[in-house]
Amino acid sequence: MPYLSPALNVMIAAARKAARPLIRDFGELENLQVSRKGPADFVTAADQRTEKILVEELTKARSGYGFVLEEGGIVEGSDKTHRFIIDPIDGTTNFMHGVPHFSISIALEREGNIVSGLVFNPVNDEMFVAERGHGAFLNDKRLRVASRKNLPDIVVASGAPFMGKDGREEFLKEADAVLASTSGIRRFGSAALDLAWVAAGRFDAFWERKLRPWDIAAGLLLVREAGGIVTDLTGRDLMLESGDVLAANENLHKPLMDLIRSAGK
Ligand code: IPD
Ligand code: CA
Ligand code: CA
Repeated sequence: MPYLSPALNVMIAAARKAARPLIRDFGELENLQVSRKGPADFVTAADQRTEKILVEELTKARSGYGFVLEEGGIVEGSDKTHRFIIDPIDGTTNFMHGVPHFSISIALEREGNIVSGLVFNPVNDEMFVAERGHGAFLNDKRLRVASRKNLPDIVVASGAPFMGKDGREEFLKEADAVLASTSGIRRFGSAALDLAWVAAGRFDAFWERKLRPWDIAAGLLLVREAGGIVTDLTGRDLMLESGDVLAANENLHKPLMDLIRSAGK
């Protein structure tokens, strides 16, 4: 059985509560796809409501903790040593298009370290959790990163910058190098789930640049607690600062970093 700290239990309960109306909204979207206004406003409302429920539930149980929220920004708490880092819907584009691959991501930071994390896909009820020093779990099953050693055998997840986002050219060079040397790339649209799936050994690795803390804070802990290595693209532990992430097992991390870095040049 997984060890779940009291704080992680509170986070799980909050995520489950927020997920109920979110699943109802996801069902409703089918009707909205065909409406003239389209689903964008509806999704914004779903995002904000999910975040509100999470903040209310977490505040009830841990009054004084601060927040880093995708929608609401930074909320200072009276307790300066703890804050929750939250993405209410990671994979908004999927949600909007009726693709059942999105997640609620909640991490708890204590004195600058992520100590608990969850990534929850409410559609298939997959609850990925990790507690620092106590492993990562999917529902009740212990997670372990994949053990493949050779680049030609691996599947790598990523995220591609689109429209006005910076870094498309760099990404295309990096993706070209990864495609040339591996069994391929998957771009599923939720960085939090990408990391959870690396922890679960479904993907062998994940890289993406310019992510935000709420996209990755919980997923980073999941990968580490499943025995994987996570750094930025220069090998440093500065993912939350730079937004650049490379996650893989210990055999693949260095070769992939070399491949991706040399491609960008
Ligand atoms: C996005 C997802 C996506 C990643 C983007 C993120 P959102 O978050 O994590 O996979 O490629 O960079 O912004 O907007 O769906 O919360
Ligand atoms: Ca996100
Ligand atoms: Ca989001």
